[in-house]
Amino acid sequence: MKIVSIVGARPEFVQVAVLSRILRARHHETLVHTGQHYDDRMSEKFFADLAIPKPDVNLGVGSLGPSAQVAEMIRGLSDAIAAAAPDVVIVRGDTNSTLAGAIVAKQLLLPLVHIEAGMRSYDRTMPEEINRVIADHIADIQLVTDDAARTRLASEGIVRGVTVCGDVMLDVFLGAREFAPRSLSSELRALAAEPFDLVTLHRAENTDDRDRLDAIVAGLARATRRIIFPVHPRTAARLREFEIALPATVTAVQPLGYLEMVALECAARTIFTDSGGVQREAYFAAVPCVTLRDTTEWTNTVDAGWNRLVGASTEAIAAALQAPPEAPADHPPLFGDGQAAQKILAALESPETAEIIAAAHAVRIARGYAASEAAEGGTGTAARDWSGAVTL
Ligand code: UD1
Ligand code: UDP
Repeated sequence: MKIVSIVGARPEFVQVAVLSRILRARHHETLVHTGQHYDDRMSEKFFADLAIPKPDVNLGVGSLGPSAQVAEMIRGLSDAIAAAAPDVVIVRGDTNSTLAGAIVAKQLLLPLVHIEAGMRSYDRTMPEEINRVIADHIADIQLVTDDAARTRLASEGIVRGVTVCGDVMLDVFLGAREFAPRSLSSELRALAAEPFDLVTLHRAENTDDRDRLDAIVAGLARATRRIIFPVHPRTAARLREFEIALPATVTAVQPLGYLEMVALECAARTIFTDSGGVQREAYFAAVPCVTLRDTTEWTNTVDAGWNRLVGASTEAIAAALQAPPEAPADHPPLFGDGQAAQKILAALESPETAEIIAAAHAVRIARGYAASEAAEGGTGTAARDWSGAVTL
């Protein structure tokens, strides 16, 4: 099978790490990086830390306003995907790279696979909510982390092509956890030697709203222990622009590499974050999480008692810093068994996927999209039965 995988932002590099290796053992993957994230510490370091294959194509789109960024991605992706002539296109999550990849795949009449489908915050002021709703509704194959996501999709009329696979970020986390501490510099190691809380903050609704950013920083000022805060470039820019100084309780550091981050997550007393990935990793690490948002897609962690939503309330943040949430006794496997990538592979090799690929191929031939494929008698993979393939 020929696969195009699209990545562009930090969490997508993590999500592709194990899966790419597993897919490449049996299929042909073209990895396309939109260039949404481009600083060494936001991109290159993840490829190095996680031994991710170098992208076959990097569109170098960079930072633009949201519409211009998606437009540039669409322009570049349509050439890159058409050139790769894949059987399927894979996007993941909810970034602008996800949205652009999803739109181009469907404009090219290619089967679209959405990993981490079926998540909702029900807050349509978030760009991520718009991106994930659109990707879910145009995808052909929905790979979801749990049954609740499947039910959510069903409530929106999406029932075909849905498979529960668990969370591929857990696969990566489990593989990294043990040797992550070795990645720490002596400075980070010294910081982590004393009890600390870990903070990440980058969502537009927090960083671009001066009052919310001010209120969160005021809460952090009331910490009783040291806070380690790897600062996303977006947040660094807004703190400068709004002239908001970080309090003495906070040690700000550059964005961390994945291994450094996992090491600090596992050692933290409490994790304060507005990140989707970090909320889940807090759960993987069995560290209580305080989410600096009014809503979350990851309500399962809240329901299990491991995650508390505090929004941008100075008082609620201060209270959680001063009387940290207790770790509940139960830690059920909310995100699967760490074998999500294998389940994704199985879903891609299923007869149902083969049917979807064959149907899309027939439509492309009929509409003249795939004249060269027709001349070659098809891609040769569309109706192939993968069930006899070697198990890894
Ligand atoms: C994006 C995703 C968000 C995800 C986050 C992961 C969208 C709509 N948002 O948000 O869902 O949680 O990535 O981190 O896709 N910048 C740099 N260097 C970089 C990258 C960004 O300086 O390498 C700065 C630029 O000033 C840029 C800003 O960060 O304008 C925001 O970057 P962008 O990719 O637009 O959004 P994120 O906030 O990173
Ligand atoms: N991450 C990292 N270094 C950091 C902050 C985050 O390696 O300084 C990792 C984190 O461990 C997780 C992923 O980046 O694997 C999550 O990305 P982010 O928080 O940027 O985006 P979100 O998950 O909110 O979309």
